[in-house]
Amino acid sequence: MTPSRVRLPRARLGVNIDHVATIRNARGGEHPQPARAAAIAAAAGADGITLHLREDRRHIRDGDLAAVRAATNLPINLEMACTDEMLANALSFGPHAACLVPERREERTTEGGLDVARLHNQVAPFVKKLGDANIRVSLFIEPNREQVATAEAMGAPVVELHTGKYVEFVFAGDEVGVAAELKRLKDAAEFGDARGIEIHAGHGLTYDTVRPIAAIPQVRELNIGHFIMGEALFVGLDAAVRQMRKEIDAAREGTP
Ligand code: PXP
Repeated sequence: MTPSRVRLPRARLGVNIDHVATIRNARGGEHPQPARAAAIAAAAGADGITLHLREDRRHIRDGDLAAVRAATNLPINLEMACTDEMLANALSFGPHAACLVPERREERTTEGGLDVARLHNQVAPFVKKLGDANIRVSLFIEPNREQVATAEAMGAPVVELHTGKYVEFVFAGDEVGVAAELKRLKDAAEFGDARGIEIHAGHGLTYDTVRPIAAIPQVRELNIGHFIMGEALFVGLDAAVRQMRKEIDAAREGTP
């Protein structure tokens, strides 16, 4: 007898379009446009558009926010640092969601989660002010109980678990590391979900690494950007988003 498959509720895919802007900005002009990528991602089955307005504007620019909103009806998830400037931007733009992330000028990408346990007093007012403006706040954190418990204490409705270390272990061929990191991700997801926090995950995910993360029952949303945009160079953005959606759906349906 074949074992019955466990079907999980569908997980949302937020497509991060930052790196369309990276290519545009390499020449300083208007092409390719992140807003056009948002429209294509929406048509291909994305459930949301994620973008990170960084302090140095290295990819997304201020004008992209309104352009993306005009191009699609999908919910917009604004990744942002805890600064007064970004808070003002978020409050005036009013995205569906804001994801608070650490930001250092010298980093190439968001390296590690926001240490909310250490930065509690700095982060808590941002959670409150964004929440008061009806913006759903998520905290991008390392997958451990201390960080999740602090997020709960701050009243954050969502956490996004950083999957970067897990992906690094996969590509290093470190099976012990992969198993340990998956255990941490699962434990943090269970711990948060049991406290009524919605669980998201993301960073560095690819077709080859997304399934074990999407198969964590409590994960309701995945935010993926760099790999999708890289694949889009070869197969087109529509096909790359559709393939990522397939991988996620297969994991949720328990398909081998
Ligand atoms: N989630 C968060 C909070 C991020 O900061 C990023 C990177 O901007 C991502 C997800 C997506 O990561 P990647 O581009 O590696 O898929």
